Amino acid sequence: MPMRSAVAAATGLLLGMSALALTAAPAHAASQQGLTRSTPITIAHRGASGYAPENTLAAVNTADKLGFEWVENDVQRTKDGELVVIHDTTLTRTTDVEQVFPDRSPWNVRDFTAKEIARLDAGGWFSDAYAGEKVPTLDRYMKNLDRTGQRLLLELKSPELYPGIEAQTLKELGAQGWTDRKHLQSRLIIQAFNADTIKTTHTLNPTVKTGFLGNPKVSDLKSYAQFTDQINPSYRAVTKDYVDAVHALKGPQGKQMEVFTWTVNDGSTARTVDAAGVDGIITNFPDVVREATRN
Ligand code: G3P
Ligand code: CA
Repeated sequence: MPMRSAVAAATGLLLGMSALALTAAPAHAASQQGLTRSTPITIAHRGASGYAPENTLAAVNTADKLGFEWVENDVQRTKDGELVVIHDTTLTRTTDVEQVFPDRSPWNVRDFTAKEIARLDAGGWFSDAYAGEKVPTLDRYMKNLDRTGQRLLLELKSPELYPGIEAQTLKELGAQGWTDRKHLQSRLIIQAFNADTIKTTHTLNPTVKTGFLGNPKVSDLKSYAQFTDQINPSYRAVTKDYVDAVHALKGPQGKQMEVFTWTVNDGSTARTVDAAGVDGIITNFPDVVREATRN
């Protein structure tokens, strides 16, 4: 049953439950019970990156402390083939690489080994309080999510730079136990701006939930429904008609397609996209979005 439209159908059942239990229950719990939710899921973008340095363990731990299960993070690959969690394709903005390796311009992630990247400070640029944070390996990062119990919207960032990253990521997630039925049902989504990457991911493992970052024309959505479960546009592209057009389709796993929108950092925009019917809101300030969309 469609996530949002099932609200009315679930109402009778909900009436039998205590109000306290309902407000305390996380959205995913309701959907897992087949009840659904009335508010979109909030996803902490690059971790709670408004409050801690993006794509670090500190950022996802901050999201956890604020009570957010879903985090969005970006994965790329080092020179020696290690998967690491970082957004930019260069190390300059979010680490001290220019001080540590002054002769290595243009400081591309893919030109550094994992051991070299492990020497970098990925937190001091944000604030002194986070000095010493590291660029996490995906391995380290997934183990942290296992500890917190969080759920992951993982972006394959700039995959055209990293041939085979789809298979490598799936293999590593599998080795960490993240491609079993339980994780695939409720804890993992893989997204990318690159449609071929999502097609490849879906082909390699059709049971993995996927998201395409962008806003294809409505007339093209049917072809996207062959390989992606979500269409994830910038909030600027979100309208109720567009969300309805996505919701009218079933994805490759036979479920209604969803819309997670990004990057919504203020309450007013959060309310606007909520009213348009999105299923998820990706934000640097998850507490702001939670407050704005609380019913
Ligand atoms: O999850 C959506 C968002 O992360 C895509 O943009 O540039 O922040 O990776 P970006
Ligand atoms: Ca991202």
